[in-house]
Amino acid sequence: MATEHAYKVLFFMQSAAFILFIINYFQMSTVVVTPVGRLSAKKTCDCKPIGTREVFNISTYVCPNGQPPMQVRGQLSNCTLADIKKRPGVVMLTTANLAYADVALNMLESVKRIGVCVNTTVIAEDQKAYDLLLKYAKGDPAIYVQKTNSGEMDAIEPSRRLGSHYYGIMNKRQAYILTLLEQGLEVLFSDSDTFWFRDPFPYFQGDFDISLRGFTKTRIVSKTNFCAGFIYLKPTKATIQFVRTWVELMDNNKKKGSFTPDQTVMNGLLRADKPGHVNVRMLDADLFPWGPTFFDPSWQKQNHSTVVMHAASIRGHPAKLSKFNEFGMWLVNVTTSPGS
Ligand SMILES: *[C@@H]1O[C@H](CO)[C@@H](O)[C@H](O)[C@H]1NC(C)=O
Ligand SMILES: *[C@@H]1O[C@H](CO)[C@@H](O)[C@H](O)[C@H]1NC(C)=O
Ligand SMILES: *[C@@H]1O[C@H](CO)[C@@H](O)[C@H](O)[C@H]1NC(C)=O
Ligand SMILES: *[C@@H]1O[C@H](CO)[C@@H](O)[C@H](O)[C@H]1NC(C)=O
Ligand SMILES: *[C@@H]1O[C@H](CO)[C@@H](O)[C@H](O)[C@H]1NC(C)=O
Repeated sequence: MATEHAYKVLFFMQSAAFILFIINYFQMSTVVVTPVGRLSAKKTCDCKPIGTREVFNISTYVCPNGQPPMQVRGQLSNCTLADIKKRPGVVMLTTANLAYADVALNMLESVKRIGVCVNTTVIAEDQKAYDLLLKYAKGDPAIYVQKTNSGEMDAIEPSRRLGSHYYGIMNKRQAYILTLLEQGLEVLFSDSDTFWFRDPFPYFQGDFDISLRGFTKTRIVSKTNFCAGFIYLKPTKATIQFVRTWVELMDNNKKKGSFTPDQTVMNGLLRADKPGHVNVRMLDADLFPWGPTFFDPSWQKQNHSTVVMHAASIRGHPAKLSKFNEFGMWLVNVTTSPGS
C-alpha cells in the first residue's frame, strides 16, 4: 500500500499469546480454498449457475428438484444469494493482478471464516489473474470476478519498474468506485492485503460521506492525510462529487504522463476540502490497525479487538506473505507471485 508514514517495523518473534489467540480464533487451522469443480456448460438440476454474472439472473436456473437458487452456497464465500440480499445496496470491491491474486484469495478466506456475506466484486487486472480468480469464484453468488475494463495494466507506463506497475493498478480503483457509487451503491473498497477478524460493517453506520483511516486521530482539514486502502463510501452528493474530481485529476495526470499515486491525489483534495466539504468518519486505529502496528510484538501483547488489519507499509509480496505466515494468517495454499 502506498502509505508513506515513518513507522519503524520491528521484526521480532511473535508472542506466544498471539499464537494461542490465532489457534483459538480459527478453530480449524488447516488450509482451505478449493477450486470449484468443473461446472457443466448446460443448465443443470442442482442449481449451479453457469457463469458468474448469471447468478444474479434467477431465470437462468432450472431447479426441478425443489432447491431454490437463493440457497446455493458459494465455495469461496460460503454465502448464498439470500445472504447477500440481507445487505442490500452495499458492495465490497477489491482488485488484484496475478501477483496478488493469492493475497486477495487469502483476504476472501478471512472474510468467509467470520461468516460475513457481502456482494463482492473482484477486479482482475490481467487475464491470468482473471482465469485464476474465476476458477475459485465460479458460480459463487456473492463474488463477481470482473476483468479490468481499462486496459491490462497501464499501456503507457513510463517504465516497467515494480513501482509504476503498482501505481498503475492502484490508480484505477477510484474509477471502479465511482461506477458503483453512481449506481447508488455504498462501496467498501478493501485492498487485497487486508485480513478480517470481525465484521466491519457495524462501524459504517451513521451519518458520514466517507469513512477511512487517517494519520492523525481526528481530522485536521488542512493537515490530515488518509489511507485509501480501506475506505467506505456512501453514494451521497458530496461523495460522488469528490470521487468524480479524484478520477478527473487522475485522468489529467495520466494524460500528462504523471503517475502521482491516487492516495496522494485524494489527500490533496481532502486537505484542501475540495471540491466541497466531505464528511469524513475516521476509523479507529486500534480496531483497524496497519501492518507495522499490528505485527509489533508489544501491540500483540495488548488487548486489541482488531476488526480489520491492513498490511499497509509491509512492502512487497514476499514480505507480506512472510508476515501472514508468521502470524498464522496465511489461510490459502496458492502462491501466485513469482517472487516468493
Ligand atoms: C491445496 O489444496 C488442494 C485442494 O484441497 C489440494 O488438492 C492440494 O493438494 C493442496 N496443495 C498443497 C500444496 O497443499
Ligand atoms: C436472464 O436469463 C434469461 C434466460 O437465459 C435471458 O433470456 C435474459 O435475457 C437474462 N436477463 C438478463 C438481465 O441478463
Ligand atoms: C458455511 O455457512 C454455514 C451456514 O452459516 C455454516 O453452517 C457452515 O459451517 C459454513 N461452512 C464453512 C466452511 O465456513
Ligand atoms: C451486486 O453488485 C452488483 C454491482 O457490482 C449489482 O449489479 C448487483 O445487482 C448486486 N447484486 C445483489 C444481489 O445485490
Ligand atoms: C480483553 O478484551 C476482552 C473483550 O473486550 C475482555 O473481555 C477481557 O477482559 C480483556 N482482557 C484484558 C486482560 O484486558
